[in-house]
Amino acid sequence: MSLSESYICRKKFKYMKLPTLPIEWKEEYNVNISFIDEHHQKFVLILNKILEIKNHDFCGEKVSEIFFSLVHYAEHYLIREEIYFKEYPNFQHHQKLHNEFIERITRLQQDYNKGEVNVCVEMANYLYNWFENHILKYDKEAVNYLKEKGH
Ligand SMILES: [Fe+2]
Repeated sequence: MSLSESYICRKKFKYMKLPTLPIEWKEEYNVNISFIDEHHQKFVLILNKILEIKNHDFCGEKVSEIFFSLVHYAEHYLIREEIYFKEYPNFQHHQKLHNEFIERITRLQQDYNKGEVNVCVEMANYLYNWFENHILKYDKEAVNYLKEKGH
């Protein structure tokens, strides 16, 4: 991706109202597939860390740990989810969203390493958006479809 494309992509990015308290995992968030629920809960722990940092307006060393956790999450979980969703009709689109997630995290990490100041706010918004729109919507839709088909 060229620099100008990256800029356009960022301009499209919407900032949303973020929760000021940590997100608590609710029963209704479960899809009742243990490896998925387990990793979605891990994601919420990571999200809560960045929300806390963002609330204190401090983007310090702790952010390196968050990037480390996110890369681990992407490497160990997203691929496993893709294997599970292989027979889902929207699989290719779902996989594309995962790839975009990885690209965005990589880009945020590069920006952080370059010392960009807005990385934490942008990351908090992006991860919260991922939680609301990907985890609670797309992943649930895929699991519900596969369950209906008897998987
Ligand atoms: Fe997913």
